[in-house]
Amino acid sequence: MLRREFADRRQVLEFGSGTGQHAAGFARAMPWLSWQPSDLAVRLDGIRAWVARAGLANLRSPLAIDLRTAQLPAGSCDAAFTANTLHIMAEAAGERLFGQLGNALGPGGRFCVYGPFAEDGEFSTVSNARFDAQLRQGNPAMGIRDIRWVAACARRGGLELRRRYAMPANNLLLVFDATVEGR
Ligand SMILES: C[S@@+](CC[C@H](N)C(=O)[O-])C[C@H]1O[C@@H](n2cnc3c(N)ncnc32)[C@H](O)[C@@H]1O
Repeated sequence: MLRREFADRRQVLEFGSGTGQHAAGFARAMPWLSWQPSDLAVRLDGIRAWVARAGLANLRSPLAIDLRTAQLPAGSCDAAFTANTLHIMAEAAGERLFGQLGNALGPGGRFCVYGPFAEDGEFSTVSNARFDAQLRQGNPAMGIRDIRWVAACARRGGLELRRRYAMPANNLLLVFDATVEGR
């Protein structure tokens, strides 16, 4: 799906890259892209190790980006990606991300978001409902987000939800495009 959605893109900024393993895999699979991983500062050593091991010219050294506080530079990329992050961070951080991303991406920019989502307050599976309860028990600020909430945050930031793909293990890939009139 990313090959399709990023076919005409050049520079992807990833948030919450985690270990960096996905960044290395995606950079290898899509050599026409420059892939920029990022995460909290404490995660960067692990990502650097994956970047060094991958040895790919199109995989960049990770940036420290904390979505609670970051100011995303305007026009720095034409695509963005994040996987399994919106339910890990507080709603305010997700809102902040969407609030800045339309501007950071520039006209026609694209944002792909992978992860588990609820729809109109309902979970697609018992396992996702259990996962949500577990997350909230561990930290009340975490929790699986509703697509309606995500789409509303996106719209406020100048991004429109255009497509959604069902992915394995009850996850979705949501695809947003930056709209000029939204900014
Ligand atoms: C469940 S992991 C997902 C990692 C990777 N994307 C994956 O799918 O395997 C969530 C990631 O979000 C990052 N994260 C949590 N809070 C964050 C924040 N405020 N700003 C940026 N990244 C954050 C964590 O450090 C972690 O790497």
